[in-house]
Amino acid sequence: MLNKEEVLAQIERNVKICQKCRLCKEATNAVPGEGNINAKIVFIGEAPGETEDKTGRPFVGRAGQLLEKALSKIGYKREDVWIGNIIKHRPPQNRDPLPDEIEMCKPYLEMQLEAINPVLIVTLGRFSMNYFIPDGKISRDRGNVIRSGKYHVYPVYHPAAALRNPTMMQGFLDDFMGIPKVLVKIENERENIKDTTDLTDQDDGQLGLGI
Ligand code: URA
Repeated sequence: MLNKEEVLAQIERNVKICQKCRLCKEATNAVPGEGNINAKIVFIGEAPGETEDKTGRPFVGRAGQLLEKALSKIGYKREDVWIGNIIKHRPPQNRDPLPDEIEMCKPYLEMQLEAINPVLIVTLGRFSMNYFIPDGKISRDRGNVIRSGKYHVYPVYHPAAALRNPTMMQGFLDDFMGIPKVLVKIENERENIKDTTDLTDQDDGQLGLGI
């Protein structure tokens, strides 16, 4: 069986040769995602932009610089977290991804998240939020933890949108500052559930002994 690192490396190889949709035709490089594969937090954006397309790395342009700055405010470096996108090739002229492109790319992110198994998924922008929460509304749901299947999702504005709009910038930074508390809360809840399960297991054992 492949270990986590091997699984992610295999997904990366598959992404790099992917021709499942039209986007690979005009893109220079695929951008599979990168970072700490044991991270508790992953950040998921929309699709590579120009700099990402040139380098094959996620969030390395202006939006990426803001992301790194926001990360540093909560005590993280980009190497501490995992960063990816729902779409792995740049859409021409940074147009919005089309529904069939999102659909084709879906299995890659699904497998990446399955392997990393993060405590918290921070979605950057509307497209990424709607990937996990189809009826989500960014202006309403940002800064709130929402359950999506087995994942805890925390939507924030896209850093590129924050760079264009001072009100969104404030919202983006405020929501970002909430991340450490959110993480602790989810971990505590998990710990409580584990404790309750352990107790139930013990009770079962005692009953089994006829006590
Ligand atoms: N915007 C995104 O959504 N993703 C990137 O990787 C860069 C910019």
